[in-house]
Amino acid sequence: MIRKFFEWVLSPMGRIAVVITVMSLFSLAAYGVYQTQQPPEQPIQFTHKLHVGLGIQCLYCHPGALRGPSPGLPTINKCWGCHQQIAKTQTSPLLKPMVDAMNAGVGFTWVPVAQVPDFVHFTHRPHVAAGLNCENCHGDMTKVTIAENPQVMNMGWCLNCHKSRTEDNFQNNPTSDAGVSAQLEKKRTKLTDCGTCHY
Ligand code: HEC
Ligand code: HEC
Ligand code: HEC
Ligand code: HEC
Ligand code: HEC
Repeated sequence: MIRKFFEWVLSPMGRIAVVITVMSLFSLAAYGVYQTQQPPEQPIQFTHKLHVGLGIQCLYCHPGALRGPSPGLPTINKCWGCHQQIAKTQTSPLLKPMVDAMNAGVGFTWVPVAQVPDFVHFTHRPHVAAGLNCENCHGDMTKVTIAENPQVMNMGWCLNCHKSRTEDNFQNNPTSDAGVSAQLEKKRTKLTDCGTCHY
């Protein structure tokens, strides 16, 4: 049986079949990589670039980044508050999904892009309180058209920052104060402890 298979693989038809199989596996894998780097299908083609460019604050649409357990994604009513006053809303094909959804009395269901797995404990509050800006972790959203999966929010990324922020010489600011050093040491132990992010 196995011997027959090898004979077939070495035959001209067999070789062609092997090449085709390898090629299709390769393109499947390449397609998989391509897929994860594509922006997901959203209910409407919302772009950050345009709206942040209009001067709308991040926290207007994502207020939970300061207060709630998660930043939250805006409801259609928040969009409509502005858009019902904009003439283009009734004419633009890009805005048709919004008008249709309002007429049908349904909302938008956004596909989340920036996410960590459920077994990871992450909240925005301590990070914003520590003086980090949105762009420290999300990059420059003023340039983003349709949000893509950033693919950087892995364990190494969290740990690297937690370590660097508790270095004695963070921002070239070495301390000779033993008390401060000990405090940083304690904080580093906490911020790199498995139980801080997993429980
Ligand atoms: C007019 C409302 C609005 C403003 C202003 C806004 N956003 Fe958003 N944001 C959205 C919507 C809608 C989504 C979901 C669709 C998407 O992912 O593009 C989103 C998604 C995101 C995401 C991806 C999260 C996810 O899981 O989809 C990040 C990160 C984000 N916003 C950060 C920011 C930052 C930082 C700012 C300020 C520079 C900002 N946003 C300003 C409406 C807004
Ligand atoms: C603070 C006001 C405001 C809010 C809130 C707002 N928008 Fe807009 N939006 C605008 C303005 C102004 C334009 C530009 C209109 C123009 O070009 O005349 C625009 C343009 C757009 C466009 C492009 C339309 C086109 O034809 O080019 C889309 C799509 C859009 N908004 C979707 C949304 C969605 C979805 C939300 C809610 C998450 C939202 N907007 C929230 C003010 C707002
Ligand atoms: C320390 C890094 C960090 C900072 C700073 C940060 N974020 Fe995030 N953000 C994350 C991570 C990690 C996630 C994924 C969280 C999850 O899956 O629960 C996320 C998720 C989000 C989401 C999607 C969450 C949702 O509710 O679906 C939005 C929107 C967002 N952040 C907006 C902001 C805004 C606005 C700011 C600035 C006020 C900000 N972030 C600052 C790391 C950060
Ligand atoms: C850009 C830097 C940065 C990144 C990236 C980052 N953090 Fe943090 N994290 C901080 C800082 C700074 C603090 C606050 C330390 C303090 O108490 O002063 C903090 C605090 C925390 C805390 C609270 C610890 C406590 O005191 O209880 C948790 C939990 C946490 N981070 C989880 C995460 C996870 C999970 C990720 C990755 C998904 C992450 N962080 C990514 C900088 C970062
Ligand atoms: C600062 C936050 C943070 C700390 C501290 C941390 N982790 Fe994680 N861990 C994450 C995040 C975020 C992920 C999910 C992303 C990923 O798979 O890299 C993760 C994923 C994992 C996974 C799943 C890996 C996989 O490939 O699916 C394991 C196992 C794990 N961590 C174990 C640990 C252990 C053991 C420790 C202590 C030595 C630890 N973690 C400390 C943030 C953290």
